[in-house]
Amino acid sequence: MSRMTIAVASDHAGFDLKTTLAGDMKEAGYTVLDLGTNSRDSVDYPDFANAVAKALKDGKAERGVLVCGTGIGIAMAANRHPGVRAAVVHDGTGARLTRQHNDANVVCFGGRLIGSEVARDCLKIFLETPFEGGRHVRRVDKLSQPV
Ligand code: RB5
Repeated sequence: MSRMTIAVASDHAGFDLKTTLAGDMKEAGYTVLDLGTNSRDSVDYPDFANAVAKALKDGKAERGVLVCGTGIGIAMAANRHPGVRAAVVHDGTGARLTRQHNDANVVCFGGRLIGSEVARDCLKIFLETPFEGGRHVRRVDKLSQPV
């Protein structure tokens, strides 16, 4: 089966979880584009959100996975980019609904907040759940409109 290419990145606080999730995705047959960081040395999370957003914009990946300490800062940074719909996810229901209703293309986790087993389940759901379309198309389109 042909699988998506997923761009992944984290800051230092998300490095361990990012490594775990990248391994899972490779094992599941996804092509993983790992854009760093590559250690627990302190870095700035916006730089890594920007790298994943660029990979999506350039067509190098179809989805993104971002991890920082809370998932919040890196999601804020990613959502500054047109075309990025980044969601902080804490549970399977959120992972499913942000795909079905928001057509989220980037999932963000808090490496200091979420258990790794929960994050692994959430990621699987996020990657396997399609957008529902229908009434949600109009709403998602509004996310791309200038404010
Ligand atoms: C880094 O200490 C931390 O601030 C960062 O990982 C993230 O949680 C920011 O939102």
